[in-house]
Amino acid sequence: MSKQEEKINELIEKRNIARLGGGEKAIIKQHERGKYTARERIAILLDEGSFEELDMFVTHRCTNFGMEKKQPLGDGVVTGFGTIDGRLVYVFAQDFTVLGGSLSETMAQKICKVMDMAMKMGAPCIGLNDSGGARIQEGINALGGYAEIFQRNILASGVIPQISAILGPCAGGAVYSPALTDFTIMTKGLSYMFLTGPTVVKTVTGEDVTQEQLGGASVHASKSGVTHFATESEDEALALIRKLISYIPQNNLEETPLVECKDPIDRLEDKLNDIVPDNPKKSYDMYEVIGAIVDDSEFLEVQKDFAKNIIVGFARMNGQAVGVVANQPKVLAGVLDSNASRKAARFVRFCDCFNIPLVTLVDVPGFLPGTGQEYNGVILHGAKLLYAYGEATVPKVTVTLRKSYGGSHIVMSCKQLRGDVNYAWPSSEIAVMGAEGAVGVLYAKEAKTHENPAQFKLEKEEEYRNLFANPYQAAKFGYIDDIIEPRNTRFRVIKALNMLATKKQVNPAKKHGNIPL
Ligand code: HXC
Repeated sequence: MSKQEEKINELIEKRNIARLGGGEKAIIKQHERGKYTARERIAILLDEGSFEELDMFVTHRCTNFGMEKKQPLGDGVVTGFGTIDGRLVYVFAQDFTVLGGSLSETMAQKICKVMDMAMKMGAPCIGLNDSGGARIQEGINALGGYAEIFQRNILASGVIPQISAILGPCAGGAVYSPALTDFTIMTKGLSYMFLTGPTVVKTVTGEDVTQEQLGGASVHASKSGVTHFATESEDEALALIRKLISYIPQNNLEETPLVECKDPIDRLEDKLNDIVPDNPKKSYDMYEVIGAIVDDSEFLEVQKDFAKNIIVGFARMNGQAVGVVANQPKVLAGVLDSNASRKAARFVRFCDCFNIPLVTLVDVPGFLPGTGQEYNGVILHGAKLLYAYGEATVPKVTVTLRKSYGGSHIVMSCKQLRGDVNYAWPSSEIAVMGAEGAVGVLYAKEAKTHENPAQFKLEKEEEYRNLFANPYQAAKFGYIDDIIEPRNTRFRVIKALNMLATKKQVNPAKKHGNIPL
């Protein structure tokens, strides 16, 4: 064997060792936990054969607690680049088979390297997290490593898309990197996110909770809103990342690639003409409206189990990716509350960062009243959505379907918040408030002294409705650009988006705004 052959064999051997991560036993254990290894995950995520691994031979430098005797190649994270549907992405996948995927100083350096490359090349960065948190043996160096990652997450925010999948434990401050990224995906039964685990919770508050109750996927998808997606399996989570990426541009200077649209743009949807019930107290399902107007009824909903009174997600119209924001009359009558406001605000800001036009479908009776909301800061949360729409410079097309009252009318992408094209259906009611509320305020004294207060109220409500329960008052002042037949909505929105394709709008120069957080 020549010296060169020997060296090549040594390389092959080292690579094989590195590819085994924490070793065969640890891999079996990982599979027994119902989890894929880091490399298996990357293989599922990326286009076949596209992955190029970096830093396979990195080892940690820790000598505490006999760590110098454990020097796994790659140090617990697999990093590199590849493609999704032919588009460049950067990936890091923590390898739980190596010291529980715990984060060392060198692991952080590997992660930071791909994050820096993603920024330089303007491509998404995807993190597959599965880690016991900071590597305890490394102390402050591990913490420093986290901080390096967080800093990069912050600087990359709004420049390149950042996506985090949580495919195992994610505890302590480690949750903050995913929280700083644009989208978080968790897998039910496999992944957990919490600042302090059940044992510490028990010690400090006396509360008895399981990991699942404290920070499982379902909890974060429905109660806290921390995760945007909760999947049934890892395969589903990885497939979802591919799908999500298809709606998003590579960076803030690009646009999402157009997809060929086979769904006729002038498709009429007769059922929309009848979807709004005559009785204003009856609801209908906004998903039916979204499905009827977007290409092939395909809608990737974001945070579907959180604040269900508002719907946000991605779709395409004539092949162009759009962000859809829609009140859901079926849940709490589509009212805006704190959670709905912050959910929609974050989504609107994401779309604005990444040049994705916004299509807003409005049927909103107002903000949810009461101490519960006020004490919870609904003023600030509502202001987030107001701010997000008002600062957004992407094309904004709004269609009012039915109610659009008061502050919520303004917040939901009205004309004066630089809505580009604002349409309304004939069934819409654009007013300061609903008829009952308005008459209650305007005629409180008269009603008290009237011989038939109930009849008097009904008459006044009718009078109010005739004046305001229609879109014509708003159209009269140009606040609504046109009143459209519901079945034409798809066509009209697509035409508006086409017209807006060259939109350029720039906000005043500033360091950054001060969104009411
Ligand atoms: C070093 C760790 C580790 C860690 C796990 N391991 N976590 N090594 N530092 N943080 C090692 C284990 O010793 C074990 O090594 C191997 O990884 C697998 O772990 P197991 O415990 O056998 O696995 P499992 O039973 O599935 O439990 C997983 C776990 C548990 C729930 C994650 O390991 C755990 O509770 N780890 C500690 C979690 C934690 O408190 N982390 C610090 C959080 S604070 P061997 O050699 O036996 O295979 C933090 C601060 C970040 O992260 C701050 C950022 C600002």
